[in-house]
Amino acid sequence: MTEAAAEFRMDDRPADLLLAASASLGLLEKAGASYRNSELAEQFLVEGRPYYFGAQIRYSDLRTYLPWHRVGEALRSNRPLTWDPQQQSMFDTTNPKMVAEFWDAMFSTSRFTARALAEAYDFGAHRRLLDVGGGAGAFPIELCQRLPQLQATILDLPHVCARAEERSTWAGSATPVSLTPGSWPTTQPARTARWWPAGPDITTEPNDLEIAEHPVRSSRLDRGFSLFTSGGGGI
Ligand SMILES: C[S@@+](CC[C@H](N)C(=O)[O-])C[C@H]1O[C@@H](n2cnc3c(N)ncnc32)[C@H](O)[C@@H]1O
Repeated sequence: MTEAAAEFRMDDRPADLLLAASASLGLLEKAGASYRNSELAEQFLVEGRPYYFGAQIRYSDLRTYLPWHRVGEALRSNRPLTWDPQQQSMFDTTNPKMVAEFWDAMFSTSRFTARALAEAYDFGAHRRLLDVGGGAGAFPIELCQRLPQLQATILDLPHVCARAEERSTWAGSATPVSLTPGSWPTTQPARTARWWPAGPDITTEPNDLEIAEHPVRSSRLDRGFSLFTSGGGGI
């Protein structure tokens, strides 16, 4: 406990409270007079682990934790509290710190979701994944690492592809993820993918792509489906 107090730069009493509270939440385990990381904390809260979730917690602290106190206002006004949809895009790039935190947070949430997807859906028949709005690459990185037959390309805005590039480098050169910087549907993805001219046989797309002319979702999906080869699918 004295060691923790020194590390956290606090008195012994609050350090003791913090350790006990963390243990009661399941983040630490008590062994005699010492504490150590629980299995949960080892998997999700140690930076560098594949399913590290700390970036999402940091982002929530920075952006959404205090606004939750005004959730009634958000519901009654039918508007977000943390950004102005009249003036800004949700993917606004004017604050570099927020941009970096946002995509790290997205990655840390999506990687574990991608694992759940791989367990729920049989990708066995697929070889070429197009991830539209793929962000920092959590889905293609997780899926390609699990499924050796799969190659992927991410189509996302150029500044986001830069983040995906960092992540794919970090994930290792054996991970076959290529990048297509641009804006869907203007940018035609497959042309820059390694497997062009064959089209993708599976496409993933988030539900919040920003498309200039705001088409209805079904017509966006139609455009996606027109890229498929026979037997392809969309998620
Ligand atoms: C909610 S994030 C999802 C990211 C990623 N699929 C994940 O799960 O981690 C939505 C992504 O769509 C991208 N995006 C938005 N509009 C786009 C467009 N018109 N073309 C390509 N990407 C777009 C954003 O840059 C962002 O990375």
